[in-house]
Amino acid sequence: MCGIVGYVGKEQAAPILLDGLSKLEYRGYDSAGMAVYDGDKIVINKTTGRLKVLSELTHDGATMPGNIGIGHTRWATHGEPSEVNAHPHFNENRTIAVVHNGIIENYQKLRNILVERGYKFRSETDTEVVAHLLDYYYNKYDKDPLTALVKVIHRVEGSYALGILFADHPDVVYAVRKDSPLIVGQSEEGNLIASDVPAVLKYTRDVFFIENGEIARLTKDTIAFYNVDGEPIEKQSKHIDWDINAAEKNGYEHFMLKEIYEQPKAVRDTISPRIKDNDIVIEELGMTDEEIREIKKIYIVACGSAYHTGVTCKYIFEGLARIPVEVDLASEFRYRNPILEDGTLVIIISQSGETADSLAALRLAKEQGIKTLGIVNVVGSSIAREADKVMYTWAGPEIAVATTKAYSCQLVAQYLLALKFAKARGKITEDELKEYLHEMEMLPNQIEILLGNKEKIQKFANRYVAAKDVFFIGRGIDYAISLEGSLKLKEISYIHSEAYAAGELKHGTISLIEDGTLVTAVVTQEELYKKTISNIVEVKTRGAYVLAVTNEDNPDIERTVDSVIYIPKTNKYFTNSLAIIPLQLFAYYVSVGKGLDVDKPRNLAKSVTVE
Ligand code: M6R
Repeated sequence: MCGIVGYVGKEQAAPILLDGLSKLEYRGYDSAGMAVYDGDKIVINKTTGRLKVLSELTHDGATMPGNIGIGHTRWATHGEPSEVNAHPHFNENRTIAVVHNGIIENYQKLRNILVERGYKFRSETDTEVVAHLLDYYYNKYDKDPLTALVKVIHRVEGSYALGILFADHPDVVYAVRKDSPLIVGQSEEGNLIASDVPAVLKYTRDVFFIENGEIARLTKDTIAFYNVDGEPIEKQSKHIDWDINAAEKNGYEHFMLKEIYEQPKAVRDTISPRIKDNDIVIEELGMTDEEIREIKKIYIVACGSAYHTGVTCKYIFEGLARIPVEVDLASEFRYRNPILEDGTLVIIISQSGETADSLAALRLAKEQGIKTLGIVNVVGSSIAREADKVMYTWAGPEIAVATTKAYSCQLVAQYLLALKFAKARGKITEDELKEYLHEMEMLPNQIEILLGNKEKIQKFANRYVAAKDVFFIGRGIDYAISLEGSLKLKEISYIHSEAYAAGELKHGTISLIEDGTLVTAVVTQEELYKKTISNIVEVKTRGAYVLAVTNEDNPDIERTVDSVIYIPKTNKYFTNSLAIIPLQLFAYYVSVGKGLDVDKPRNLAKSVTVE
């Protein structure tokens, strides 16, 4: 799980590589490095720590002259974060340099073979075998880089996006991928490779998405593509029309805050194009009403926050469309031999579209001939390409490790699907659909209203920066909101936090409540209101301080709890979209109050491309 970049062109490469890497730090940030051909040899600089350490070391790239290079930002898998394990890796005489995102699964076997042939390894990484294997085949096959690369990709197993420099071919960057993302950007000033689009947006909007097994050969004015056997192939570029500022902080202190504030737009962008004349049009679904009526069961499979959206939407698919739904963590689903019968639809939800477990779950369903639908944010990502159908969430690039706007878009995309399914199956009338859509369309403005009241949450958060434990409770959809509120808090504040179905407290958890423990109670489901109030009373009796998040027409709750955040009135199925906003802000301000690195919490990476 790393980010790679490469550049060859008219400009000095190193500053461009550093800039590209800065857009990819969300993929990993425990060490970084660059290799640049300086006109005579390949020069390599690498270091542990954030990219800024590499920038300082190279004086923002100034100490590395040369117009061609590759770079890497790392999230360690094989070998601890250290200078020697940082990329680029290279052969004995430093004539071949390699950056890699992914895992070479048979690296140990290859390493043993190479050691027997006299190769000396410096690092503990899987990647180093690629550098030595390239050296071996390069020397064996007439020093032809393409032949060497083809030989290597037939020997290595696992996942990889590779960027490669050969000192003997100082005007060419080679790249290849399998199961790790890779794009090629084309510009007048030069050509680039990268793990993700934001890294090249400053230079170009014309991008090639590299498919599994494809090889790219870049010079300053040419780009050629080859298949897995080294035969030339044609590819079409795509024009990216993301706003360039969307990949920058735009004056906000952190990407997370910026992305929280982008939610009204992101939600509107995801909903609006799909509502036409009081009906839901999801062309990309490619399913007739007849086919929708044939769905017997839905599996929603995802990881982390994306999974939490599935937990919410199970209530909605079942409640509205009356289709049984199972929600699974992808890492469990892929190994539990699920019963996937005819008439099942598997929905894979993923912001990045690259999460290894979600991708494996998708492939498992496809292997069994089951229809798959990806709800994905990153256009052209692996899940988007491999799912039978893909419905994009139009959140734009999300950089902060803690997801906010992509989460909100995943929710509304599923609301639309659930309503469409309910309508096609005759479970709701046209008038009811119209009413639901009206309430959905109000969500972006209601989110804006909640964002306008951030001061109260900020003050409240400041009181809890030293908290030891925080609990989140709720029933039904409120439980699903609690799961996400708790994850948000713990991942960026490092405060221990757990979410419980409120009715479950008495079965053990309540013994954790002490004087002053903060319990956040989510109470948006009217039919469960009294039940949750009883649970609130139980924790209060044991000394808890209770913050309630509830609908604005529940002022009576103030008699029971210590503090309240009201959300605007919406349909009971859509409350998650509003109740999550104060919980995101709470987590954000606790993290800021503790002086932590909000956008890049420790031990985490944005895109989890290893299992
Ligand atoms: O890219 P994905 O949506 O597949 O990622 C899934 C999870 O890794 C992700 O939601 C993670 O839990 C976030 N850090 C939560 O904020």
